[in-house]
Amino acid sequence: MTGFAYRGGVLHAEDIPLPAIAEAVGTPCYVYSTAILQDRYRAYDKALGPLGVRICYALKANSNQAILRLFAEEGAGMDVVSDGEMRRALAAGVAPDRIVFSGVGKTREELVAALTQNLAQINVESREELALLNEVAGSLGRRAPVALRINPDVDARTHVKITTGLRENKFGIDIEHAAEVYRQAAELPNIAPQGLAVHLGSQLLDLAPYRDAYRKLADLVRALRADGLIVDNLDLGGGIGISYQAGETPPDLAAYADIVREILTPLGCHMMVEPGRSLVGDAGILLSRVIYRKHGLSRDFLIVDAAMNDLVRPAMYDAWHEILPIAEPAPDAECSAVDIVGPVCESGDTFAKERAVPPLTDGDLLAFSQAGAYSAVMASTYNSRPLVPEVLVQDSAFAIVRKRPTFEEMIALETSPPWQKD
Ligand code: LLP
Repeated sequence: MTGFAYRGGVLHAEDIPLPAIAEAVGTPCYVYSTAILQDRYRAYDKALGPLGVRICYALKANSNQAILRLFAEEGAGMDVVSDGEMRRALAAGVAPDRIVFSGVGKTREELVAALTQNLAQINVESREELALLNEVAGSLGRRAPVALRINPDVDARTHVKITTGLRENKFGIDIEHAAEVYRQAAELPNIAPQGLAVHLGSQLLDLAPYRDAYRKLADLVRALRADGLIVDNLDLGGGIGISYQAGETPPDLAAYADIVREILTPLGCHMMVEPGRSLVGDAGILLSRVIYRKHGLSRDFLIVDAAMNDLVRPAMYDAWHEILPIAEPAPDAECSAVDIVGPVCESGDTFAKERAVPPLTDGDLLAFSQAGAYSAVMASTYNSRPLVPEVLVQDSAFAIVRKRPTFEEMIALETSPPWQKD
């Protein structure tokens, strides 16, 4: 498989030298590799397909239409968390009966939209949501296909901001109350409870939390069935973590599949997973150019043309993204520690502190790696910087799959109130 690799001294995306994209599209821009996207999807399919587990891509990780179409063509379903995401999945040609609607705070309008579109399943996260959904479904003359998302109170041992399966997190129905709420759901006239969902958090590098949560889930299924309730579907939550830096070893998908086979397969349920990061994270880079190498008193700063508004993960989660010079450094190149920062007027606009990098200076191109997930989708226009364009590469072809908005387009979204002079 080709992906991002040095060839002839230049970093390539598949068969395209990255300077060619920088030239044609301008920097900063996101660049995605079709080969990596396909490879990651097929790895899931190979590990979990034989167990009958459906892969519903969590498109919050990267919702570009081109990527959704690529996964739809591979046979993926989708996990959406907003009306906007549902519309994106439908626009990409995903059949409604392959779409699951998750999320802790769905509005009445979103519940109406999900039911009207006949989505496969709505994952309900509270008694309050269940009551509203029952009412909305009744007014539409439908029965809502529901899975209850359970909060298993299992520590995912990941970053605090992306842990979701602990009692103190806002997500899901506490496992202690789950059976009672499921029973109540079964009694509601417009709710068809069909199963359970869990999600522990993101960027899990350890399989033990899955094992703990799935055991609790299996016990709950058996208890509900013993009560005569029907539990046919299990949604196993997000995917495994990825490697952002040396020493981070993602779990093995085959080992994950073994856990599913051992603990959940005996229940005979239809199963699905909702991976996001592990399908797209490795498939993208953020291509950027050094504006200045600024010599400071204590260290040098590489001021690059990408900023925290384009890639917020370092500022938000202290996340590490590998930084690759586009011109391959000589094997004996001397590295020095620099701060890599963007032009935004905040000290938090820092991609890396005291990072050892080979010689890089004004005008040089570099790439932030593992920027396919939670990167372009979390971008903003802070400092009136236009959203970064996205480029998809396939072999020796590349295409802009989201263009950089013009300043005129950005300003045209705003209007003056009538009392202001022209
Ligand atoms: N299902 C649910 C209900 C979720 O909340 C999430 C992610 C997923 C699936 C997908 O999880 P994954 O396979 O990607 O781990 N912005 C953060 C990550 C937020 C994850 C939110 N939920 C970051 O940049 O690290």
